[in-house]
Amino acid sequence: MLAVTPLDPPFAAAVAGLDLRAPLDAAAHDALAAAMARYGVLVLRGQFIDDAQHMAFSARLGPLERSREADRPNHRMRLGNEYMIDVSNVGLDGRALPRDDFRRVSAIANRLWHVDSSYKDYPATWSLLSARSVPAAGGDTEFADCAAAYEALDDAMKARIAPLEGVHSIATGRAALGFTDFTPEERAALPPKRHPLVRTLADGRRSLFIGAHVGEIVGLPIAEARILLADLTEHATQRRFVHAHRWRDGDLVMWDNRRTMHRGRAYDMDLPRDIRRTTLSDRDYGPSPVA
Ligand code: OGA
Ligand code: MN
Repeated sequence: MLAVTPLDPPFAAAVAGLDLRAPLDAAAHDALAAAMARYGVLVLRGQFIDDAQHMAFSARLGPLERSREADRPNHRMRLGNEYMIDVSNVGLDGRALPRDDFRRVSAIANRLWHVDSSYKDYPATWSLLSARSVPAAGGDTEFADCAAAYEALDDAMKARIAPLEGVHSIATGRAALGFTDFTPEERAALPPKRHPLVRTLADGRRSLFIGAHVGEIVGLPIAEARILLADLTEHATQRRFVHAHRWRDGDLVMWDNRRTMHRGRAYDMDLPRDIRRTTLSDRDYGPSPVA
């Protein structure tokens, strides 16, 4: 039977009693769906799954997003699959990527507070991140409860941000790290996208929609926008709103991007850290990649 135990703070929970190597039966699926409606982060330990099992489990929960890597010309993807998003720092040879590899920039950019795919027309709903092999030290992933953070704002701030729209671009967070080396194809595929700064969740709660991809606010001078975003991020990432996950091999952590932000923490990037993600989207991208 599925057991759900709240973690600290309790927008995150541990889920035990599932084996993701096989399809879930209806009761387990319903219990998981109920946990997903209630919590922002779910932690499942001891799930030693392969890519096919990871995708099959994910695809039952919603449409899978394609990897941006798949759009890079002449690029050979390590996982060979456009629905498995390679968040690792590992190259085709199984070793840690060299300093000049473009994927290493993405791994570093994940250390800024962000919301997955927020720069897309249809931002991510749930992300499912599986630890295949992680270093013994460092590399925690932290999650901030953006719904609780919104609710803790004072009324004047809630009124101020209610009508505002953020401008999201993949280039924003990369530029903050000094990286501007996008191919013309990547730029064309990912024009900046507007989304409300406050979004309303399915249960009626509201949540802050910010993070490293947001670089402007429609109608505000750039400096005012940036300082407001910095203030809101600082507010939302106070320790009382943050759950930190310490990885072990076989962990699967899934989070709802509509009510959380997350970031990776530092580790020794010369050691391989093999973590892989599927991402669910609001949009159906066509036929499911798994039967
Ligand atoms: C991600 C991500 C952070 C990390 O997979 O979306 O941001 O700790 N990961 O690697
Ligand atoms: Mn991420």
